[in-house]
Amino acid sequence: MTDTTASGDVRLAGISKHYGSFTAVHPLDLTIPQGSFFALLGASGCGKTTTLRMIAGLEEPSTGTISLGEREVTHLPPYKRPVNTVFQSYALFPHMDIFENIAFGLRRRGITSVKKQVDEMIDLVQLGEHARKKPHQLSGGQQQRVAVARALINHPQVLLLDEPLGALDLKLRRQMQLELKRIQTEVGITFVHVTHDQEEAMTMADTVAVMNGGRVEQLGAPAELYENPRTTFVANFLGTSNLIESAVESAGSDVAVSASGTTLRLPAARCSTTPRTGGKLLVGVRPEKISLVPAEEEHTIAAGRNKIAGKIADSSFIGVSTQYVIDSPVCPELEVYVQNIERDARLVPGAEVVLHWNPEHTFGLDADQSISAGTTGDAGIETVEESA
Ligand SMILES: Nc1ncnc2c1ncn2[C@@H]1O[C@H](COP(=O)(O)OP(=O)(O)OP(=O)(O)O)[C@@H](O)[C@H]1O
Ligand SMILES: [Mg+2]
Repeated sequence: MTDTTASGDVRLAGISKHYGSFTAVHPLDLTIPQGSFFALLGASGCGKTTTLRMIAGLEEPSTGTISLGEREVTHLPPYKRPVNTVFQSYALFPHMDIFENIAFGLRRRGITSVKKQVDEMIDLVQLGEHARKKPHQLSGGQQQRVAVARALINHPQVLLLDEPLGALDLKLRRQMQLELKRIQTEVGITFVHVTHDQEEAMTMADTVAVMNGGRVEQLGAPAELYENPRTTFVANFLGTSNLIESAVESAGSDVAVSASGTTLRLPAARCSTTPRTGGKLLVGVRPEKISLVPAEEEHTIAAGRNKIAGKIADSSFIGVSTQYVIDSPVCPELEVYVQNIERDARLVPGAEVVLHWNPEHTFGLDADQSISAGTTGDAGIETVEESA
């Protein structure tokens, strides 16, 4: 590997893709730092694969340039780019054993003494005892590792992964997520990982770019995106958010808003728009930040907390926590997750309750957006077809 330039960042500048009159990717500026694990996250059809294929050279951008470090690669054919791709269908060679599948890239380049490098790769992906098996004799997760090893043996500067775990069942997916993360840390090259699974993106990536309709809506570290979503799409697509329509009563460094006669507070610093007195604001709070008490215990709630009165509409016990849906005049269907430490027998459907949380855990969003963007019920979001 030649690594003489200071930076091997992947840089997309004004990259877009049109298919006829349809814009699959709107002009996009994106820098993917060298050595990072970067995830492109979004619902089906939002332009993830198209973006990845432009980086790989499999798709010609309509506008813009792509650089790897100091080198512009926009018009280079795929095989001349220091990039390899792992697809969802691993497309291993069925007649070759695992060793030969992994050796393929070296042999194609005319390298004959491949054993040392192939053995290293087999160790890296922990398939030692399987080297002489054929692909059909391996599990899905093992085949996936062969696909990763087969790409990495070419020493790409960047590894592109397009839904590589899509064919695996949930448990194996979780295991392979950690495995891929370990491999990335070990080899230290840039991974660009495409997925529609928000948990997968958050588990694996240093940086996540959330895509919606051919645009990157927000980019950041997983915790940053989760705690400080800047759009309703990100707030709803990444986990669950309670979004409450409210009117701004006063706006200083602390903001007071009113929703159906209930006053709520939040720090101005947590608003992605400047709140103006008399204006509207969508107030957001995550379900796990909220505590729940029976209405008759409202007096036990510490002063200064945000409070909403409501009635339990539904509760589901899911082991580590109980998830409640609460109806309130302030907001229909508020979601609250309560950890199962000591379960309060009074918190059952029909019970009158008070929700309360620390105002600091509240964020504010521009009210001129669709409140349901990014939820599965939103018309703009297609449901993901798992298999036809
Ligand atoms: N060759 C093509 N011709 C016309 N439209 C295309 C072509 N390839 C992709 N598109 C459209 O571009 C949009 C983005 O497609 P893309 O494959 O990038 O989505 P994606 O985010 O990878 O979705 P998924 O999660 O379903 O794989 C889609 O609406 C798709 O129908
Ligand atoms: Mg795709």
